[in-house]
Amino acid sequence: MTGTPATRLWDLPTRITHWSLVVLILTAWLSGGQQMQIHTLAGYGVIGLLVFRLYWGFVGGETARFSQFVKGPGATVGYLKTMGRRTAADLVGHSPVGAVSVVALLLVMIVQAALGLFATDIDGINSGPLSYMVDFDTGRLASEWHELSFRALQGLVVLHLAAIAFYALWKRQNLVTAMITGKRRFIGPAPNLKFAPAWRFVLGVVIAAGAAWLIARGLKLPKL
Ligand code: HEM
Ligand code: HEM
Repeated sequence: MTGTPATRLWDLPTRITHWSLVVLILTAWLSGGQQMQIHTLAGYGVIGLLVFRLYWGFVGGETARFSQFVKGPGATVGYLKTMGRRTAADLVGHSPVGAVSVVALLLVMIVQAALGLFATDIDGINSGPLSYMVDFDTGRLASEWHELSFRALQGLVVLHLAAIAFYALWKRQNLVTAMITGKRRFIGPAPNLKFAPAWRFVLGVVIAAGAAWLIARGLKLPKL
């Protein structure tokens, strides 16, 4: 696409979070039910990333903020009606329809990780760190739902990739490069986006790592 010079669209923390989630979800998938040490480590990593992404949705760069991309049903249906057009959309950030998929992906990943924390396996060796809070049957139910929600997550990821392929093939618009480099050319005037200062990223990393560490310890603080 020609147009403006390449202009920053996604900030670095949003991109790092996205690609780290991809790697860790794949790791959790391949190790689930088999290499449980790797599985739980990947799971804690996912939890840290999700905590960070939620925080960044309130204080991060403009295109990462929920208030910027979560729209009501009117805007979503309105955008849906124009989606079949073969022209590339000059969107700044997620489209209203893309936002639905982003929120669904985040919610299902949260549910997936939360169920894993309470999951109890048959012999109790590889149970989640919060499984001590529930009885055996509830822990087994969490295990079953952990498997079920994983099917939902797989479905959403397939839809996500299909949407990206649709933009590439039907609209001739490459969304992936911008998620890697952070930059994109715009057809119209380049947007003047606001990005967050580095200290907010550092604070977010501390909060996310602290939360993941505490959850991995079964929410038990060390005794001083
Ligand atoms: C959010 C990322 C996660 C994904 C994608 C994921 C996915 C999976 C998958 C595919 C399985 C295998 C299910 C089967 O046997 O067919 C599994 C099992 C399991 N996962 Fe996760 N998981 C995630 C996070 C977690 C977390 C954070 C924990 C807890 C620390 C956890 C604990 C478990 C346990 C205990 C099992 C074995 C359950 C059993 O043997 O019944 N998972 N997970
Ligand atoms: C486990 C697999 C994946 C998950 C869970 C996932 C999840 C997400 C989430 C939550 C977002 C929103 C980004 C944000 O605002 O933080 C997103 C956006 C995006 N993802 Fe993925 N993703 C996955 C795989 C992929 C893959 C393999 C690709 C590349 C082929 C990809 C390309 C993109 C692109 C281009 C966007 C931005 C879409 C836009 O322009 O609105 N994702 N993804």
